[in-house]
Amino acid sequence: MISAASLTEGGDLPDERPADTPTPRGEGAGLSAPAAAAKEEQLTRHRDPRYQPARFGWGRGRYPVGAGRYSVAPAAEAGLAVRMHIEQADPADTRNVRACHEVYLAAQRVDEPGGPWFTDRAFGGWLAVGWGGDPREVWLATEDGSVTGWYRLELPARENLDHANLDLTVHPAARRRGTGLALLRHAAGRAAANGRTMLNGAARDGTPGEAFAHAAGAEPGLVDVQRVLDLGTLEKGKLARLRGPAERSAAGYSLVSWAGPLPGEFTEPMAALYNAMSDAPREPGFAPEVWDARRVREFVGLRPRFGMHDYGVVARHDDTGELAGLTEVSVDPDDPGWGHQLITTVSREHRGHRLGLLLKVAMMELLATTEPRLERISTWNVASNAHMVAVNDALGYVRYGTPVTWAHLKVAAVPRSAGPAG
Ligand SMILES: CC(C)(COP(=O)(O)OP(=O)(O)OC[C@H]1O[C@@H](n2cnc3c(N)ncnc32)[C@H](O)[C@@H]1OP(=O)(O)O)[C@@H](O)C(=O)NCCC(=O)NCCS
Repeated sequence: MISAASLTEGGDLPDERPADTPTPRGEGAGLSAPAAAAKEEQLTRHRDPRYQPARFGWGRGRYPVGAGRYSVAPAAEAGLAVRMHIEQADPADTRNVRACHEVYLAAQRVDEPGGPWFTDRAFGGWLAVGWGGDPREVWLATEDGSVTGWYRLELPARENLDHANLDLTVHPAARRRGTGLALLRHAAGRAAANGRTMLNGAARDGTPGEAFAHAAGAEPGLVDVQRVLDLGTLEKGKLARLRGPAERSAAGYSLVSWAGPLPGEFTEPMAALYNAMSDAPREPGFAPEVWDARRVREFVGLRPRFGMHDYGVVARHDDTGELAGLTEVSVDPDDPGWGHQLITTVSREHRGHRLGLLLKVAMMELLATTEPRLERISTWNVASNAHMVAVNDALGYVRYGTPVTWAHLKVAAVPRSAGPAG
């Protein structure tokens, strides 16, 4: 599955208690008609042939490959009945994006049928630049010119320079024929060629991805849990009831929200807020991200690639003017029923004032006015992040799907494929 790491919330208040009683969206109200229209729009889109159940024979025609770099995984080595090639792809080329997206959608229909799924544009952004713009390689498995699988190898350039993050997908109609293993071996070769010693991946528990990781000898790591808030289940007045006590606890702080790109004045202070994630639970041995204004600027500059509506709320400490906390949510206009919770964080020195809850309540109130077709918000939390989970529980989030377990595999432990790239 596609890594959820950068979407995981964390860095929240140690002593933030789940606030009293919950509420809904009484104040936003009136969502049903637009929500139904949005649903219908989604269904129409998903009736598109690309969203139909897996068939062998998708994606006719050859796909462009990266200039000058080409490798072949001999079929015999991978145990394939047919000849399979592994070719580097230019992720900026729309034909490659389309081919990978088709395989991704076919896999999602089987592995994560409830969604949410990346739409074309967001997927293209993720494939080409990822969340943080780290260097990457994309390779395709092809059979007779059709793409049967792909992998994206991300090469962190700032921290964890010995790691490579791998997302690997095989079309459901082409599984259990060795394609996944051939791609993994190839990826290990590329990781080694880039000086990496550790491959990181992730899969939902109980899916083929988990079995595959286990079969490859990967070690399980952190567990991420997805939760979803169904806005239709929010009782009237719940947000106001949560906001009251949180506001009292957060006396001396003011909230500022925005829609669209990060306001320029926040570029510098945002680095400190992103750094506040450094004490959120993470894998032992993984270095935390270190942010400065330049990195924030680069990160913000990548956002248009995803075509999302981006929203942010910060808490500002009135006395010092310092930014104390942040929450960010994105909504894909091509799939407007789903909101995607990104980071929520409160700086260490400002914890204990229920800012995490207050920020998230304010965000929901903002979204009620800006995204009338929103039905659900999805969030990911490391299973052990009790404080963040308590905030989400208070808001009414419920667990969604099976957890995702991270998998770590030493590059040296993966048998290499033959060929120029291996
Ligand atoms: C995981 C995935 C890439 C496997 O692709 P694949 O081409 O079917 O993999 P392979 O045929 O090379 O399988 C290699 C081994 O993995 C194990 N495996 C793979 N799928 C399995 C399944 N559904 N059940 C049990 N074991 C499985 C087996 O040991 C298999 O060897 P075998 O077929 O000789 O028993 C594919 O199912 C997929 O795209 N899943 C969704 C994305 C994902 O989870 N990616 C991996 C993240 S770590």
